[in-house]
Amino acid sequence: MANTYVPKAYVKADDGVNPELVPGKKLYTGAAIPAVGMGTFGSDRFSAEKIADAVVGAAEIGFRHFDCASVYGNEDLIGLSLQSIMAGGVPREELWITSKVWNNMHGEGKVIESCKKTLQDLKLDYLDLYLVHWPFPNFHPPGCAPDYRSPDAQAYIHEDFMKTWRQMELLVDRGLVRHIGTSNMTIPKLKLVIRDARIQPACNEMELHPHFQQQEFFQFCLDNRIQPIGFSPIGSPTRPDRDKTAQDTVDIEDPVIQKIAGRLQVHPAVVCIKWAVQRGQIPVPFSVRRHEYLGNLRCSVENPLTEDEMKQIAGIDKNCRLIKGQVFLWKDNQSWEDLWDLDGTITPP
Ligand SMILES: NC(=O)c1ccc[n+]([C@@H]2O[C@H](COP(=O)([O-])OP(=O)(O)OC[C@H]3O[C@@H](n4cnc5c(N)ncnc54)[C@H](OP(=O)(O)O)[C@@H]3O)[C@@H](O)[C@H]2O)c1
Repeated sequence: MANTYVPKAYVKADDGVNPELVPGKKLYTGAAIPAVGMGTFGSDRFSAEKIADAVVGAAEIGFRHFDCASVYGNEDLIGLSLQSIMAGGVPREELWITSKVWNNMHGEGKVIESCKKTLQDLKLDYLDLYLVHWPFPNFHPPGCAPDYRSPDAQAYIHEDFMKTWRQMELLVDRGLVRHIGTSNMTIPKLKLVIRDARIQPACNEMELHPHFQQQEFFQFCLDNRIQPIGFSPIGSPTRPDRDKTAQDTVDIEDPVIQKIAGRLQVHPAVVCIKWAVQRGQIPVPFSVRRHEYLGNLRCSVENPLTEDEMKQIAGIDKNCRLIKGQVFLWKDNQSWEDLWDLDGTITPP
């Protein structure tokens, strides 16, 4: 596929956002990361070509931060987009590219192999950030049903995670990645990583949207100089049906969000992004539609929410986790809640 796909030529847009005006966050290394990124997971609805085109389109209107992962199955085409963006005049240093090691590549040998494959696909010399996508080493086929269980699924075993982390640290030593981080963690797991890491996580990517604010974990990250990156920042309204349950709530239908959207004359999705940026996490909204991704970036530089609106949104948390991770369960008759250490201790094997 990569052979026949021709990326869109990058042409800076006249109606875009000046990337220098987009707020940034400082990491503990001193590096600056743009405070809004673009997601690249098509949730099985959009082709790799469509997403790769959107990456160029998003750069044209001012996006500089892209949230990638090997498991999204599109890094080879996004690599062509990045080449087009840089050929069009955007220097590599202006871009912030994140990727993630997938669960079947944990352990001693495979993390470095996986990162090298990602670098080859993205056609880059280094990544700005490399994350461990999930703390569980477990293969499941892309698009599998929530009741799929891998026969070799395992609980979180800290010693094993640290074997993976040591490889992540080596990637920094070798200059292949500038920062490393975690994703889909919990406080007790991250505490152990902080205790044992030689190179501290710079970021933690976690589900964050108005109906799932994870206040305690969010604050824990800040207190430990770990920048939270918020995935599914709009509440992933169009995620696959297999990831929906009857109890899930819909952020963009919340009356508080809708009322603020009415005041600002924007889509409720945009209110979710504004809230995220002003609260201090870095949202990585996904969209392949130009008017949507333009709105998602522009909202970070104009018409902020008022303090009162920020307080109102703080009050609509419903503790509604959408990405429950059922496919990672390792025993029969377990609840997805076992993955998230709700009582503050790591669920034993
Ligand atoms: N680390 C992890 O484990 C993890 C897990 C999940 C996601 N992620 C990352 O987070 C990114 C975003 O998550 P997500 O795709 O689940 O959810 P999301 O960003 O909350 O929702 C995306 C959907 O919202 C709609 N949307 C976006 N901008 C809009 C706007 N301005 N106005 C109206 N609607 C808008 C789009 O719907 P339409 O397409 O219908 O227009 C889009 O498909 C992913 O792409 C991925 O990079 C990471």
